[in-house]
Amino acid sequence: MKSSLVFTLMITGLVSILPQAQSSPSDCVCNLKNSEHPFPHDKLQTVENSASKCTKNITPQQTMEVEGLLLGLKRRLPQLEADVSVLEQEDDGGLYGTVSLQVIENELSEIQQLIAKLNSTTHSHQRLNADTAEQLQELKEEMGKLEKFDNMQVVRGKEVNKRLRRDLDQCKNGNHPTAPPPEPAPGNCPLGRLRSVTGPNTYTVTEYAAAYPYGSWGRDPKPAAGKESWFWIVPLTSSNVFSNFVRLYSSLSSLVVGVSVPGSVVIHSSNPTTNTIQGPNVVMYGDALYYNCYNKDAVCRFNITAKTVTPMVLPKGTGFNSKFNFCHLDACYGYTDMDLATDESGVWVIYSTPDNFGNLVLAEVIPGSPPTLGRTWTTSAHKRAVTNTFMACGVLYATRYLNKEAEEIFYSFDTVSGRERYDIGIEIKKMSINIQSLNYSPVDHMLYAYSDSMVVSYKVHFG
Ligand SMILES: *[C@@H]1O[C@H](CO)[C@@H](O)[C@H](O)[C@H]1NC(C)=O
Ligand SMILES: *[C@@H]1O[C@H](CO)[C@@H](O)[C@H](O)[C@H]1NC(C)=O
Repeated sequence: MKSSLVFTLMITGLVSILPQAQSSPSDCVCNLKNSEHPFPHDKLQTVENSASKCTKNITPQQTMEVEGLLLGLKRRLPQLEADVSVLEQEDDGGLYGTVSLQVIENELSEIQQLIAKLNSTTHSHQRLNADTAEQLQELKEEMGKLEKFDNMQVVRGKEVNKRLRRDLDQCKNGNHPTAPPPEPAPGNCPLGRLRSVTGPNTYTVTEYAAAYPYGSWGRDPKPAAGKESWFWIVPLTSSNVFSNFVRLYSSLSSLVVGVSVPGSVVIHSSNPTTNTIQGPNVVMYGDALYYNCYNKDAVCRFNITAKTVTPMVLPKGTGFNSKFNFCHLDACYGYTDMDLATDESGVWVIYSTPDNFGNLVLAEVIPGSPPTLGRTWTTSAHKRAVTNTFMACGVLYATRYLNKEAEEIFYSFDTVSGRERYDIGIEIKKMSINIQSLNYSPVDHMLYAYSDSMVVSYKVHFG
């Protein structure tokens, strides 16, 4: 806002002062005598042209040429040395082997050619350097003269305008953050590559208002019949760590107005106790809730209809009880050792182990009875450097804290190619400082975030 205002002023300032100074045949006549000479725009143009020509003259290619020649020399000299020592061993009383001598002569002549080439290249570069230095000095003097002339701040104004225009472009692009990576869609995703995240679409406090800053929400990607439009919330109602129920809503609007018609389904009357919920990264899938079981290195599955819990123990060493948390620079999110996720192909768990040096480990959850761990991948993304993860179309994505306004999807791991990337660069606009949980729903291509007791959703765009 501030910069666009300044931008407007700068433009109108330049445009209006100049013509009105010469003639202004309107009702109100204002005589402004301009004692200054007009600004030499043509001179400025010439200086600008010379500067850009100067930049083009020295190319990275020239530097590489010299480096290539030096590398060639470096490789050939030890070879020459080795061959000479072979020749010396072949010395049979004054007569060197003629064949070996031939080889060494060839090597020497190659080396001489390389040195000559290097010599001529450096000479031409020295000339170029001298020319450029001279040109730069001339440009500097010219600019100095122009600056003295610049009473109307034309040059400075141009600079400021250029900067503002760049800021404006950045600002515009910020509204539709896009990543332009040029490869085929990862994860064999028929939707294509994850391009951007827009929104928030929904953002509202829940019926619990600001009572519970930690929690999660979303919708079941594989709902039971009749529950297709249902939504759920799990607020961590004890110490920001534990919960013992899931709250259900028959539609998004009933969630927004805080009317839970199906009500809550309770796992156990105590909170916490064996197999109740620990940590915010909960998901619902196939009419069951998946979460980190209280005080265990295990994922629990709570069957909403049968109201039974089946635990699935993770590999030995898997962190729990705040051993491997999601963090940003200032703090960590407690009890976020296990992140449950859903995508087109089912349920996933993201955790960490000392064996993988505290980096993310990704595993499939096979929803049998009991649920079992499927394929597992280790990654090089450090858990503490990540604020959250989610799965979309067979690809793991990780976010990090950028600033109060934005979180960035910076990392991806493709389960099909095994390829990791750290250059995703897609921003998520935040409504509050922290995102305690983040999960993707393949049903509507939305990201569901729980952010400091607000429930927020974003649209994920592929293509
Ligand atoms: C390098 O080049 C300069 C000028 O072209 C020449 O005078 C000089 O002899 C050369 N030196 C070698 C080692 O080739
Ligand atoms: C949940 O329990 C019901 C009733 O026992 C059963 O039919 C259903 O398959 C169970 N769901 C899961 C995901 O185990």
